[in-house]
Amino acid sequence: MIQKGACLRSLFQSFQTGSSLSKLGAYYCYASQVASRLEQVEKPSVYSDDEYADVDWDNLGFKIMPADYMYTTRCSKDENFEQGQLSPYGNIELSPSAGALNYGQGLYEGTKAYRTEDGRFLLFRPDQNAMRMKMGAERMCMPSPSIDQFVYAVKQITLANKRWIPPPGKGTLYIRPLLMGSGPILGLGPAPEYTFLVYASSVGNYFKEGSAPLNLFVEEEFVRATPGGAGGVKTSGNYAPVLKALMRAKNRGFSDVLYLDAVKRKNLEEVSSCNIFIVKGNVISTPAANGTILEGITRKSVVEIARDHGYQVEERVIPVDELIDADEVFCTGTAVVVAPVGTVTYQNRRFEFTTGAHSVCQELYSTLVGIQTGVIEDKKGWTIEVN
Ligand SMILES: Cc1ncc(COP(=O)(O)O)c(C=O)c1O
Repeated sequence: MIQKGACLRSLFQSFQTGSSLSKLGAYYCYASQVASRLEQVEKPSVYSDDEYADVDWDNLGFKIMPADYMYTTRCSKDENFEQGQLSPYGNIELSPSAGALNYGQGLYEGTKAYRTEDGRFLLFRPDQNAMRMKMGAERMCMPSPSIDQFVYAVKQITLANKRWIPPPGKGTLYIRPLLMGSGPILGLGPAPEYTFLVYASSVGNYFKEGSAPLNLFVEEEFVRATPGGAGGVKTSGNYAPVLKALMRAKNRGFSDVLYLDAVKRKNLEEVSSCNIFIVKGNVISTPAANGTILEGITRKSVVEIARDHGYQVEERVIPVDELIDADEVFCTGTAVVVAPVGTVTYQNRRFEFTTGAHSVCQELYSTLVGIQTGVIEDKKGWTIEVN
């Protein structure tokens, strides 16, 4: 008699050792043959014929709704990562003395998979996330997956969880790659072992405002990053310290916090989880990425789209006084996309900005989302079809 556990394990092993998800079809046949010989073995949903998971797609927010599978691979300090494995999404075992838990030796990334109107699945510039993780890993003394390994893992997660990719217009599959020092370490130093893990969640709008304009609060007490620090990399340790300012602002009815530079406390940096842009006439400006702000992939893409549309784009120091005088303000990020800012409150004064159908923000949003969702032809090679 075949043991159920052993069979499921062997199914997974077969799946994991495949070099490409295009092998899924073959595995599907194999899986259904084996599974049909077993009673009460739950068919892994990657083999599910369901087009969609059972989700209320009209009410997605930005909260964790884990998709079926995660991807994991480990390596020791002086090794390179090898191909990882898919397993059902679930808790992971970690040493209490793991470097990530004790010393914050960890990075994360965020990218999305989109379902097109004609039923294809697209990724948007995942190689850029891979490169950013590589740079961050170098800063945090960690080995990192190669660009190919990273992109391959993201593709695998997309395919294995495709029924969690919301219908077009309802949301996206948010993909969260993590890199962490998972090995035990007591004295301060790089961990002896590292884990690269990717999981995914169906998401809708990031802000509770939906697509309505945001109300930002300019934070003058707390700073997000300092010159020479790690503000420019996506290390987990950059995020907990902003919670206090963020919660304080949210409790006062604001959508998010806009940070100023740590030295002069007068130049714009970024928002808690997105970059900031201001528009004045035909000029679109955004703070230069000099190591204290995260160089967003959406920021980079929007800069390119804006130039293509004939705007003059400047990456430079922007005093907060200049923002007050702007026509428009907007934020960019994978999670927030391109979000209009309706008001900014600075030193107890509330400044209003143009938003709406004919705004520059809306124009850039439509083009970016059009490319991401396959509605506008991608002439830049930014999207990757996963199949
Ligand atoms: C602090 C911060 N700034 C900016 C961004 C936007 O980056 P991206 O456009 O790559 O998502 C993010 C989100 O990743 C972020 O966490």
